[in-house]
Amino acid sequence: MIQYFQKIESVKGTLHLPGDKSISHRAVMLASLAKGKSIVHNYLDSNDVLSTVSCLKDLGAEIKIEKSRLIINGVGFKNFSSPQSPLDAGNSGTTARLIAGILAAQNFSSEIIGDASLSKRPMDRIVKPLSLMGANISSTLGSLPLIIKPSNNLHSITYRLPVASAQVKSSLLFLGLHLDETTEIIEPTPTRNHTELMLGLNVEKQKDGNHIKVNRSFYPEAKEFFVPSDISSAAFFIVLALLTKSSELKLKNVLLNETRAGIVKVLQQMDGKIEIENFKNDVEKTGDLVVTSSNLKNIEIPANIIPNIIDEIPILAVAGLFAEGDFKIKNVRELRYKESDRIKAICSNLKLAGAEVFEFQDGFEIKKGKLKKDVTFESFGDHRIAMAFATLSMLLKNGGKVKDFECVNISNPHYLEQLESIAT
Ligand code: S3P
Repeated sequence: MIQYFQKIESVKGTLHLPGDKSISHRAVMLASLAKGKSIVHNYLDSNDVLSTVSCLKDLGAEIKIEKSRLIINGVGFKNFSSPQSPLDAGNSGTTARLIAGILAAQNFSSEIIGDASLSKRPMDRIVKPLSLMGANISSTLGSLPLIIKPSNNLHSITYRLPVASAQVKSSLLFLGLHLDETTEIIEPTPTRNHTELMLGLNVEKQKDGNHIKVNRSFYPEAKEFFVPSDISSAAFFIVLALLTKSSELKLKNVLLNETRAGIVKVLQQMDGKIEIENFKNDVEKTGDLVVTSSNLKNIEIPANIIPNIIDEIPILAVAGLFAEGDFKIKNVRELRYKESDRIKAICSNLKLAGAEVFEFQDGFEIKKGKLKKDVTFESFGDHRIAMAFATLSMLLKNGGKVKDFECVNISNPHYLEQLESIAT
């Protein structure tokens, strides 16, 4: 479906966005691993999270979907049952990679499949280290389908992550949860740490990075999970409020974990007016964000913040297009392995809008051009590209269109209603 967005003058009001995607996935997985009844409050009801729900149901967890919560009856230690058919992770890398770590510990064979986009994404990054732990797992030329068989040779390892990836880290931690001996993961550049926080793992900060330790004593127990609002979904509205005149937008109870909220820091450094109210430090840090119209200026983006803004780079590029000076970002090669090749997707859409763009292997640079009055953008079937260029559409003189916009259902099925409630 092609979605038209008219030019927006200003945004005003308050948004209560649904739960964070990364935390929702993990809550469903941990609740399904734990024995007995857990409740996940404010879960994200998007296609990606529903892929995780359906895989865990296929593995024997009982999951009741209610309006704003999930009631999950988990199975307990190594108690999943053999699925009838391949487990379908849909479009979700988090589902495929994290569940692989859980399946590697079970006493039955399984297969993980996914949609066309997920089937192109690298899986050798988990197959190699899981195999080092003795898992019996194979990919198809480094991609899906993954075939996982029982192994009687599982053992702990010490592993230094060669790519900054929370999905790889979490996959190994999930297998490590099933072993008596301690597995140690060394993470040179910190990535999102929800798995560590939710399992209460020991993390030591050392010179060579974070050392994360896990063993069976951390196996989860049934409990209530409270999922804060998704900072990645919030980012699209934050940038819209910053770039439109006379805007004031409040986003309630947003996740502010520093491994995720890099976008707030970067936009503030770009002179974005974003205030934090009601800051809380529970399992996760949260707060309300108050965003007002700002004149942004581009800054140099340091390499060590990249993993903490990785999903927000498409919308950051849109902010950069309207900020004073040229926008340049490097060290983001990982963007080529997301739901689409996001470097290519961002550059080609920006060119469609009339900007002069230089693409590098690991980044891109935007020089200002004369922006067109209205443009039809490609979403490349990628939810974050769709919402980033919906935002740019609303800033063009005559608005713009985004093709295949339904892909937003992957992370935010309520995007259009939320937008309508704040656009003036
Ligand atoms: C995620 C980790 C990140 C991120 C993805 C969700 C997670 O991927 O891009 O959207 O929930 O662990 P990588 O770990 O591959 O960088």
